[in-house]
Amino acid sequence: MNIILMGLPGAGKGTQADSIVEKYDIPHISTGDMFRAAISEGTELGLKAKSYMDQGALVPDEVTIGIVRERLSKSDCEKGFLLDGFPRTVPQAEALDELLADMDRKIEHVINIQVDPEELVKRLTGRRICKVCGTSYHLQFNPPKAEGVCDKDGGELYQREDDNPETVKNRLDVNMTQTAPLLDFYETKSVLSNINGQQDIQNVFKDLDVILQGN
Ligand code: AP5
Ligand code: ZN
Repeated sequence: MNIILMGLPGAGKGTQADSIVEKYDIPHISTGDMFRAAISEGTELGLKAKSYMDQGALVPDEVTIGIVRERLSKSDCEKGFLLDGFPRTVPQAEALDELLADMDRKIEHVINIQVDPEELVKRLTGRRICKVCGTSYHLQFNPPKAEGVCDKDGGELYQREDDNPETVKNRLDVNMTQTAPLLDFYETKSVLSNINGQQDIQNVFKDLDVILQGN
């Protein structure tokens, strides 16, 4: 199954992606995670992406499309894939269509997780992430059993650099402007489903899974 997970920053894409890839055994392709990995490795791609991410701006399309093209060509994507946070602009969506046509593949589901912007500010500023496995927690909504420590592996939890209030505001503004035309793009292709992201994590997954099982 080939799936795109959409939603504003903090909507719960990463959280739901963990459950989807576990159940459907497909690779999780998050452009944000790929950029953060490149930053921590100090590569040229990381250097390029960091200046945009620190401001809450989008990384240029040609850079982003390039890394997705390379990732989708890997053999583990043959069984399907989950794209998280890509595409985020219409040119990215058009480039993805071309890429998939070349591979004789298509997107089966685009799932848009909807959450009010005020709620998103709370989610992002309270998020804490495991340094070892990348699991997201929330100080209030999804706290770990022991403070500052991952439940799964005891890893230390940290706060993402772009989760400060000022950058969060920019990320939300930028994404709200860019996402609207993208929703129309997929609506006309009849692959878009909107789900209510403002319920607890398990219930969001239940709604999402009903859509995926309908395939
Ligand atoms: P990226 O890493 O994709 O970040 P994002 O879109 O801002 O989304 P997040 O990862 O912040 O949120 P999420 O929806 O995954 O939420 P999560 O599940 O963690 O991108 C970062 C940057 O990279 C961008 O700003 C840009 O610069 C660049 N970039 C990436 N892709 C790009 C592209 N295609 N083009 C150009 N640039 C690109 O949940 C958030 C919090 O809420 C957590 O604490 C979680 O525990 C909690 N939570 C989750 N679900 C619930 C729930 N149901 N109820 C209560 N709390 C919940
Ligand atoms: Zn962990």
